[in-house]
Amino acid sequence: MSEKLWGGRFSQDTDELVEKFHASIDVDKRLYESDIEGSIAHLKMLAKESIITRTEAEILIKGLGKVKEKIENNEIKFSASLEDIHMHVEDELGKVAGDVARKLHTGRSRNDQIALDVRIYLKSEIKTIIDLLVDFQKSLVRMAQKYPDVIMPGYTHLQRAQPVLFSHHMMAYYEMFKRDIERFEDCYKRTDVMPLGAAALAGTTFPLNREYTRELLSFSKVSDNSLDSVSDRDFIMEFISHASICMIHFSRLSEELVLWSSSEFAFITIADSFTTGSSIMPQKKNPDVAELVRGKTGRVVGNLMAILTVMKSLPLAYNKDMQEDKEPLFDTVDTLKICTDVYTRMLDNIEVHTQRMYDACKQGFLNATDLADYLVLKGMPFRHAHAVAGRAVAFALNQKKELNDLTLEEFRELSDLIAPDVYEFIAIEKTVARRISHGGTGFQNVKQAVSKAAGELGL
Ligand code: ARG
Repeated sequence: MSEKLWGGRFSQDTDELVEKFHASIDVDKRLYESDIEGSIAHLKMLAKESIITRTEAEILIKGLGKVKEKIENNEIKFSASLEDIHMHVEDELGKVAGDVARKLHTGRSRNDQIALDVRIYLKSEIKTIIDLLVDFQKSLVRMAQKYPDVIMPGYTHLQRAQPVLFSHHMMAYYEMFKRDIERFEDCYKRTDVMPLGAAALAGTTFPLNREYTRELLSFSKVSDNSLDSVSDRDFIMEFISHASICMIHFSRLSEELVLWSSSEFAFITIADSFTTGSSIMPQKKNPDVAELVRGKTGRVVGNLMAILTVMKSLPLAYNKDMQEDKEPLFDTVDTLKICTDVYTRMLDNIEVHTQRMYDACKQGFLNATDLADYLVLKGMPFRHAHAVAGRAVAFALNQKKELNDLTLEEFRELSDLIAPDVYEFIAIEKTVARRISHGGTGFQNVKQAVSKAAGELGL
């Protein structure tokens, strides 16, 4: 006969392979703290509403404290036969507190219990992740402050396009991660909903005081529909989706660091402590950290596909499929945390080769748009100006020159609107300095953006 906590209606033991197959303890044991915290609140509420006595609640709460200690001291052997963390805690409580432990589960189901545990866990992890992302934003801003007026080529299609400030480039990432933080803050609101009391799916016949449980566990609101409470995993899908976008931001930055640290670009050097060598090629110094973050983005996006696919087609309310939500969630939390942390430290260990960046702006006609703008200021319609500047580029290419190297006579062959002031107009610094439209790369603009961000971050 089965001795399982749910074994009453069973006349056969669970097949050993099935036991192993459906156990989730290896994964959900990390929820032990949330599980115990939720149970303590549940007991206090049961006692307040006289569903159990105060003495019973006290014994059980003390017992749960001991169970927690035992878990933390590795004194509990986790086993597949007890399925999950809920069963382990309850079983252990029985050992330390006796039969009264059987009252803990009054008015509760593992379905609302697991929903609660994951929400408690994720609320705290979202806060940690936001803190880590803010730290990372600080290193971006520090980088912008360290190299305030450094000019580099800005790219479109990975072709040199127009000169921009390196600090402007860093601040672009600041904006991207600011949106990530906003998304996590938003997702926090929907995670911060207390589901306990929905029981298995329909609510319970016991006079539970859900509002009191909510207050004890510091949730913002109580969930409103019992079926939704036990079957909602939107907050997990949202979280992993936001995490995927955030990882994609890290991955894009990684790609740039990989390119910039190559001999072809040679824009930056990543410190030895944040790179690794090759076991065969002695000269190699590889940007592995950036590459690995780029690679781990694949894992997180994979986790998003996993959770979306698990949830697709699930009828209300709880289904065992949903047990598969935890591995992608935990892996996403772990991956995002370590990637953010490692990146924060790596940025502080990057040296920028400012001259090399500047020199790269001298080749590739990065000031061609400015030549067109010059002609517009002299009265030529932009489309004509664009065509003249295009002809200037073609001519210069032919002569193996840059636009600045063309003689005034050569320029005037192209348009007699061109005067000697053209040389200053298309000088690299000037092309940057003039871009003062809101959000542009002009020196003053970026300075202001950096000091605003520094203020927001308390730097
Ligand atoms: N281990 C389960 C999960 O993670 C807990 C809920 C189980 N409920 C059930 N009726 N089997 O989803």
